[in-house]
Amino acid sequence: MLMLDVLSPLLLLLLFSILLPGYGCRAADIPEDATSEFSVRLYHQLQAAGGQDNIIFSPLSVAVALGMVELGARGASLEEIRQTVGFSHLVPGVEFSLLQNLTTALTDDDAHYVIRFANSLFLQEGVTFNPEFLHLMRKYFRANVETVDFSESSAVAEQINNWVENHTESKIRALLSAEDFSSVTRLTLVNAVYFRGSWKNQFRPENTRTFSFSKDDGSEVQTLMMYQQGDFYYGEFSDGSQEAGGVYQVLEMPYEGEDMSMMIVLPRQEVPLASLEPIIKAPLLEEWANNVKRQKVEVYLPRFKVEQKIDLRNTLQELGIKNIFTSDADLSAMTDGKDLYIGKAVQKAYLEVTEEGAEGAVGSGMIALTRTLVLYPQVMADHPFFFVIRNRRTGSILFMGRVMTPEVIEPSDHDFDSM
Ligand SMILES: *[C@@H]1O[C@H](CO)[C@@H](O)[C@H](O)[C@H]1NC(C)=O
Ligand SMILES: *[C@@H]1O[C@H](CO)[C@@H](O)[C@H](O)[C@H]1NC(C)=O
Repeated sequence: MLMLDVLSPLLLLLLFSILLPGYGCRAADIPEDATSEFSVRLYHQLQAAGGQDNIIFSPLSVAVALGMVELGARGASLEEIRQTVGFSHLVPGVEFSLLQNLTTALTDDDAHYVIRFANSLFLQEGVTFNPEFLHLMRKYFRANVETVDFSESSAVAEQINNWVENHTESKIRALLSAEDFSSVTRLTLVNAVYFRGSWKNQFRPENTRTFSFSKDDGSEVQTLMMYQQGDFYYGEFSDGSQEAGGVYQVLEMPYEGEDMSMMIVLPRQEVPLASLEPIIKAPLLEEWANNVKRQKVEVYLPRFKVEQKIDLRNTLQELGIKNIFTSDADLSAMTDGKDLYIGKAVQKAYLEVTEEGAEGAVGSGMIALTRTLVLYPQVMADHPFFFVIRNRRTGSILFMGRVMTPEVIEPSDHDFDSM
């Protein structure tokens, strides 16, 4: 019914560099579970390190990148990945087919949205990699392989940056610099994901207003709040504990085509997100997805942009994937050399939720936003919230994160109609 585009382009870059000898410690064991458990543990790890920052990362992309490493791994290096990511209940090797299926399900030629997975290996010239490894990389991950000379570090940085830029519609530029490579670098794995979708129910830009957003530290910022009343999936949940803030809201907003959706989890106004975060667990994500009901909802959602570069080396080690980062690493399925280990693992993700052409399209005071006249359930995201972007058919989680600060506008930018 409402005719305006809200575009949500997302993208992400994941980069693994593999280097020659280093120093090591032994692995730790992590209990087995499904990939969604791994995703949630990653989130909690980032949350613990993140203070009051926004969070955005792609669990699926981390799993795919680890799958690429696992193809070249043996022994403890391989086992830690299987255990930690949640593949240990599968027949060994089946996880590659699973990852292939999950990414293929997302990249099906579906005109409703654009998702591109782009995997690439940059190999040192003159180093011989196991042909079987390269074959399987192409088969499961459609990985493109190029040879470079890492001692020409500026040229390599430029080449990889161009490749990344080409595969992320120029959203990620100049990611790497010459200092990221050295004469001992032998292999860099790059994994980029680009997603762009339009909401099934779009917002009208003339309904967007300046609005106060209350941060969890008690301060307020001015943001652009989008508004609509429409049919969404909605539910109210409670874990029964007062520490988690009692009742909270879950709103699922599908993208066009309905295969992909964004789930927004919002505590009550006076409850900081930090109170709700500890209860987020993999089975709870399922419970939300299975129990939201289609109904009319009034939605107030700020425009936001979240961007994060994560050092996965530290994060994954905390979760129990340690061996591949040490001199104990066994990546002998990749190459005959015994000395390979992962030197660097970085993920960069970017998500923007905004109306198309919003620059000139922000409304100027025709429709009042009100908290008092409640005809339908009202989701007022004027304080921090958690979100998940997932495939509704496979359940795979493309992005996960939180918004602690939305897009902030300066008081001089717009007239401030008081709400
Ligand atoms: C992946 O999809 C293929 C074809 O549909 C199917 O045969 C295979 O069992 C799937 N693999 C996994 C691990 O689900
Ligand atoms: C990027 O795309 C342009 C245009 O398609 C092409 O000319 C260029 O070679 C590409 N660069 C890389 C590094 O793939």
